[in-house]
Amino acid sequence: MNYKDYIRVIPDFPQPGISFKDITTLLQDGEVYRRVIQDLAERFKDLHIDCIAGPEARGFVIGAPLAVALGVGFVPIRKSGKLPGETIEADYALEYGKDKLAMHKDAIKPGQKVLIADDLLATGGTIATSINLVKQLGGEVVGAAFLIELLELNGKEKLGGIDIFSLVQYNG
Ligand code: PRP
Ligand code: MG
Repeated sequence: MNYKDYIRVIPDFPQPGISFKDITTLLQDGEVYRRVIQDLAERFKDLHIDCIAGPEARGFVIGAPLAVALGVGFVPIRKSGKLPGETIEADYALEYGKDKLAMHKDAIKPGQKVLIADDLLATGGTIATSINLVKQLGGEVVGAAFLIELLELNGKEKLGGIDIFSLVQYNG
């Protein structure tokens, strides 16, 4: 199945020069969405991960069903100010914009093997920050799973040699 057929590309959103990869068109098709999750689960099923962590918001759309498919828990990484318990936070720079990400301090136990999941790897800023947070809690990041990777932004280089996998790649 060619997932690109289901991803809508919108030029100049949210600002000129950005070619936005809109996954809502893919998510609308239950069978295609199911196969995306199944393909990612198949790729990571032998890593014996303890949980999946995914950054708000689109990381939830991939990470939560992937956690269910792999039979493990899901840890939300949220934008600052959303989590009610004790948190750790880290700054990050996006392809367009800046923010802070946060995790509950008790979300991951030291030594747990964590797979990070998101819809898209662009500059790698979101995932580098997510890795930083997981490591601060003593977790071991064993890989990162994406639906989409934007190759020309070299996000992989920021991620310190962890096992990166994406189902669809774009050059521009
Ligand atoms: C988008 C996307 C990834 C991130 C990738 O999220 O969902 O999380 O950008 O960019 P990067 O590799 O350059 O960090 P965004 O922050 O736009 O928010 P959303 O998921 O809440 O829509
Ligand atoms: Mg996101």
